[in-house]
Amino acid sequence: MISPWEVTGEIDYGRLIQEFGMEPFSSLLPEIEDPMHLMKRGVIFGHRDYWRIVEAMKKGNRFAVMSGFMPSGLPHFGHKMTMDEIVWHNRKGGIAFVGIADMEAHAVRGLSWEETHRIGIEYVKAIIALGLDENSVIYFQSANHSVRDLAFELGEEVNWSELKAIYGFDGETTLAKMFVTAIQAGDILLPQLPFYGGPKPTVVPVGADQDPHLRLTRDLSSRVSIFAFERIENGVRVRSRKGKKYLNELENLEFDLKFFEEHVDISGEPERIERAVREIEVRLGGYAFIPPSSTYHKFITGLQGGKMSSSKPESFISLLDSPDDAERKVRKALTGGRATAEEQRRLGGQPERCVVFELYTIHLLDDRELEEVENDCRSGKMLCGQCKRIAVEKVRGFLRELHEKMSEAESRLDMYRIISRSDSL
Ligand code: TRP
Ligand code: SF4
Repeated sequence: MISPWEVTGEIDYGRLIQEFGMEPFSSLLPEIEDPMHLMKRGVIFGHRDYWRIVEAMKKGNRFAVMSGFMPSGLPHFGHKMTMDEIVWHNRKGGIAFVGIADMEAHAVRGLSWEETHRIGIEYVKAIIALGLDENSVIYFQSANHSVRDLAFELGEEVNWSELKAIYGFDGETTLAKMFVTAIQAGDILLPQLPFYGGPKPTVVPVGADQDPHLRLTRDLSSRVSIFAFERIENGVRVRSRKGKKYLNELENLEFDLKFFEEHVDISGEPERIERAVREIEVRLGGYAFIPPSSTYHKFITGLQGGKMSSSKPESFISLLDSPDDAERKVRKALTGGRATAEEQRRLGGQPERCVVFELYTIHLLDDRELEEVENDCRSGKMLCGQCKRIAVEKVRGFLRELHEKMSEAESRLDMYRIISRSDSL
């Protein structure tokens, strides 16, 4: 079972793509120039409309990357995956938005505002330490009035039956928890508000459990916008969701237009048409949102097998763990090794079942090192003890450097646009 607030059982990612109606990421991979390691290694397995981002990166057009972190527990290696995805897109030219989901942590997990603030700041320091640029927008949900206002507007388009169908809410669900879904939709569409330069492709890197939020937000992005687009033979069919009168506003477009009772058919290059129509909508005071794109990464396995969970500190390496604590956890981690050394030399290890190898794949090794470890593991040349010594050194080195960068980030926080908790709460 997979929902934004609960994930249990084994996951078949191929089936998930089908059931959720995502696209497999592998089909877009060849289009991406210098893809990040999580893409190449199949950790990012699915997407929605990521072609918009690929195109923007190719053409040097504006785009945004946005994701959120719920500060209910300390940031760990699972969050680092999302942070790395944000930073990668940021380096590729995307303007980055980072939401600290303190409203969600407060409403769903019951943390006090003091706690969400204290923990939230650690996420902020971590992502800055990982390389986020100073032009990024970092905010706490509770302090961001644009997000809260937008959430309220979006809420006008959602009724109870829909929330129930998407999230499985029932009679016990609180209003605050329901509102948090609108807040998350507000997070995702924030980068497209006029204040930030209006409509632009936005990618939201997340774990697969967040997909319901994306489905809802993509839907809402169209519902609150004036013009709706449908690709036709040699162009685009445009309808108005807010009354026929808006269609007349398209009259002066420099394309070949055919007016019908309920729609206008425009021939030409679809991208250019949609951009021109959205410009008109913005001038008319509409949102003209582009449905957000998303990428989905696999869940990271807990160090003892099973799910990694922020409520079980032994199941993950926190980005704040001391190198010694991290070492202890790596030493106890589940591997794909055999019952005896003799057996492992004969049969080789099983990296696909090994948590240490997963750490290597997702965070610690470059392509060449990874291949070497995999070969030495499969051939039985290297045993798990020796392999873990490598992992320990890598993790210690990584944490030492990260902690230095985090304290440096702390002293530079005022260089960033951080929208922090207001005192009204
Ligand atoms: N709900 C997400 C989580 O539990 C956090 C989140 C809040 C988020 N706002 C978001 C994720 C916007 C992506 C985009 O991890
Ligand atoms: Fe995992 Fe390394 Fe053991 Fe292979 S040798 S099973 S990669 S710990």
